[in-house]
Amino acid sequence: MPGMSGTPISELGSRVGEEVTLKGWLYNRRSSGKIHFLLIRDGTGICQCVASRADLGAETFELADHLGQESALELTGIVREDRRAPGGYELSVKSLRLVSAASDYPITPKEHGVAFLLDHRHLWVRSSRQHAILRIRSEIEAACRDFLDQRGFILFDAPILTPAACEGTTNLFEIDYFGERKAYLTQSGQLYAEAGAFAFGKVYCFGPTFRAEKSKTRRHLTEFWMVEPEAAFFELADDMDLAEDFVAYIVGRVLERRRAELAVLERDISRLERVSKPFPRISYDDAIARLKAKGFAIQWGDDLGGDEETAISEEFDRPVMIHRYPTQCKAFYMKQDPARPEVALCVDMLAPEGYGEIIGGGQREDDYETLKRKIESHQLPMDAFQWYLDLRRYGSVPHAGFGMGIERVVCWLCGVHHVREAIPFPRMLERLEP
Ligand code: 4AD
Ligand code: MG
Repeated sequence: MPGMSGTPISELGSRVGEEVTLKGWLYNRRSSGKIHFLLIRDGTGICQCVASRADLGAETFELADHLGQESALELTGIVREDRRAPGGYELSVKSLRLVSAASDYPITPKEHGVAFLLDHRHLWVRSSRQHAILRIRSEIEAACRDFLDQRGFILFDAPILTPAACEGTTNLFEIDYFGERKAYLTQSGQLYAEAGAFAFGKVYCFGPTFRAEKSKTRRHLTEFWMVEPEAAFFELADDMDLAEDFVAYIVGRVLERRRAELAVLERDISRLERVSKPFPRISYDDAIARLKAKGFAIQWGDDLGGDEETAISEEFDRPVMIHRYPTQCKAFYMKQDPARPEVALCVDMLAPEGYGEIIGGGQREDDYETLKRKIESHQLPMDAFQWYLDLRRYGSVPHAGFGMGIERVVCWLCGVHHVREAIPFPRMLERLEP
């Protein structure tokens, strides 16, 4: 291993009996008087390091007795197998070097309120629960890329600064662009991914997206990450097949590679193990009938809110896809069903266990005149959409795609209640710091 790093704690299993150097931070410690037990974390795991006065010498032994939580240390010693130790291995310390001392670390093992923890998010990410969540997030993002790369999708990055809205004008973040004009933070890379699909066949974009959502729900961030595949010669049924394969792959990958983190989070894995194909597919009409039967005061034409989504998803043990919402509920680019123009060829996927909508997508309007009328009726600036209309002028074909919100999927797979824990630095209505 090049560079300054020591032996990763995660690799101690293959180093039993050998001398190694661990480089990390003090997570916790206790002492029996004659022996110090130092819990060291290095980002890959936690290891108990056992140090006696005889091994360290009086001066270092005394120093170790006063080390504050999160002090940075290098410890050299022999790796021993010990089933009782966290991680299964411990280090018999021969020498200890203090890299930098810390004192009065604000996050202690006692309970803290969530506002305090969010104010200290830059430190909170070191604690074991946050660590497990963010490792699973990393696995999910890697799984998204691997799945799409293996299926021949080209990564096609979309811009963040955009001249117009994609998902409605009510939640746009506006920016002053050189004092000359307005720009907006993107709500979705989709429109640009459509240009990519007509250039490459199959593409995806993957990046941060922004919604000035004034809602304070457990499912909404103002900045969240979205992965958006888009494919040419693709229809709604193909899109649903892709979304199903995609989500099944991601869940399987996390179950396969992130067992330890799921255990830290005490996630009920049996709920995730049921997530295999096929996922149920119901129409919006069917969803409304089911909700009415449950006593919801909902009419055909209303969008589904969080409570309605939870009520529907509770009926299934795996994600459910709801297709063909009323055109009036959906964005301007959605293709209307030729057989029933009052509904759009769209699909939302709802996660089980009440985690809400994780995917939104569908087939795009590919007819020039129809799309132009939609841009007009949604009162969007026609000038800003000329390039988008060009895609319908020059070789338009049926195409479809979807967007999956990463934080919602992280919450679901981790069994975490609020999206604020699913991203390193959450941005919400009342939070821009740290
Ligand atoms: O359903 P949405 O708005 O769809 C689109 O933006 C499409 N243009 C995507 C596409 O077809 N390429 O958003 C897609 C997903 C939602 O299903 C949800 O998982 C997530 O993005 N999402 C949010 N996640 C966190 N906070 C928010 N405020 C979110 N808004 C949407
Ligand atoms: Mg949606």
